[in-house]
Amino acid sequence: MRRLARQLADLAADELIGGGRWVRDPEFAARIQAQVRRGVPHGDIAAAAREIAASSLRLNHRRYMAQQVAAPIPAAALVESLVAALNQSLAVVRMSPAGASVDRALMADFRRAFRYPAGADGTLTPGGSFANLTALLVARAALAPKAWGEGVRPGAMAVIAGAQSHYSVARAAALLGLGARAVFPIPVDANQRTLAARAPEAFAAARRAGYRRFVLVATCGSTPTGSCDDLPALAAVARRYRAWYHVDAAHGGGFIFSRRLRGKLRGVEAADSLTFDPHKMLFMPLTAGAVLVRDGRRLRAAFSQHAPYLFRSLPGGELPDLAQFTLACSQRFDAMKIWLTWRAYGGGFWGALVDGVCAATRAAFDYCRHSALLEPAHEPETNIFCFRLRQPPRPAAAADRRHSELEEAVNASGKAYISSTVLNGRRVLRMVVMNPRSGAADTVGVLKLVERLAAR
Ligand SMILES: Cc1ncc(COP(=O)(O)O)c(C=O)c1O
Repeated sequence: MRRLARQLADLAADELIGGGRWVRDPEFAARIQAQVRRGVPHGDIAAAAREIAASSLRLNHRRYMAQQVAAPIPAAALVESLVAALNQSLAVVRMSPAGASVDRALMADFRRAFRYPAGADGTLTPGGSFANLTALLVARAALAPKAWGEGVRPGAMAVIAGAQSHYSVARAAALLGLGARAVFPIPVDANQRTLAARAPEAFAAARRAGYRRFVLVATCGSTPTGSCDDLPALAAVARRYRAWYHVDAAHGGGFIFSRRLRGKLRGVEAADSLTFDPHKMLFMPLTAGAVLVRDGRRLRAAFSQHAPYLFRSLPGGELPDLAQFTLACSQRFDAMKIWLTWRAYGGGFWGALVDGVCAATRAAFDYCRHSALLEPAHEPETNIFCFRLRQPPRPAAAADRRHSELEEAVNASGKAYISSTVLNGRRVLRMVVMNPRSGAADTVGVLKLVERLAAR
């Protein structure tokens, strides 16, 4: 067993260093199929695991720039094997007395970081989608308290959100019985920021449809472009309409640790609830999402259920059973990697990593502005940058196809990995810099690769 532990730890270290030639081995499909057929000959788990790793998309490669999934901080990734070995279930405090203490300490740290009041409370979730679902559930409990027992009445609560808001917001509305049609979009500007001045139109549309209670969702770190909404302006709108104010900072929450970028979260402390994902801009391995609720009593009230076979507080103890305010009944000890990283390196470390990936993204923008073949689709605010061909083929459908082909060509080369999205109805190429080791040479190098492929 110790031999296997050393082998797997070495393999993980090799991956974390980001070695390896390919971001995605051009032969990956044949390789992984062969491995699946081979199984695990002679019970050699390490050899099979090495082959699976080699056929995987290498997020630790410096030229991986596709989606908002991080190259993890090595210490945090290595701690994961201990999390699995301890296998603590934090939902019930008797099953995880130490884990619950660490989790509560972490939540208190986050509460202070985001300048939430002492009465705020929160919980880790398996990601931003679960966090948004939790936040909207809490909002529903506050605005339509009978819904838990009696179900949701038509017109109970509308969700007013920027048109670029993550799909998990509309999904949460549907899951909570509000219906996806209860979501009313607010138009966005060219950089995908919600136009606070246009919010009244969305509220008016919701009113016309019969809604009288509202949740307003702002985004910091929008999925397509990484842009941040004007949080104080939207907070004022929420106050005017007496709406529950939720900020989805799944992507941008980590900016709070950057002196340069924390201004983008100015006003977040006014939010009734907040989503932020440590597995995005705090560079934690999956999974690590979180939700904070300004009035912690509302979080607990939203889940008010009795389960005497599980929920009991410890005699004389202050620690709660977390299942009383999380969706999960088996709550993974994700707090451990985040808390250890924070205490070992300090929040400034995260700030430096955030600044680094944003600087590398900016370098790509600066290069792109002067490229003969490519042009920026927007000015990046953070670490997400969309770009396109300066002179795409016509008509628009041919241009969309050409951009998709270029994305495929970059990714098939094995030398880099990017994504694409649709802005203003047109497909554009997209880079998301999620590896703190990626520098300007990497982001510019990826654009040069796109130029070479585009020139063919
Ligand atoms: C703004 C925003 N909210 C929520 C999510 C969902 O987060 P997760 O993938 O952790 O469920 C994302 C994911 O990209 C996001 O960009």
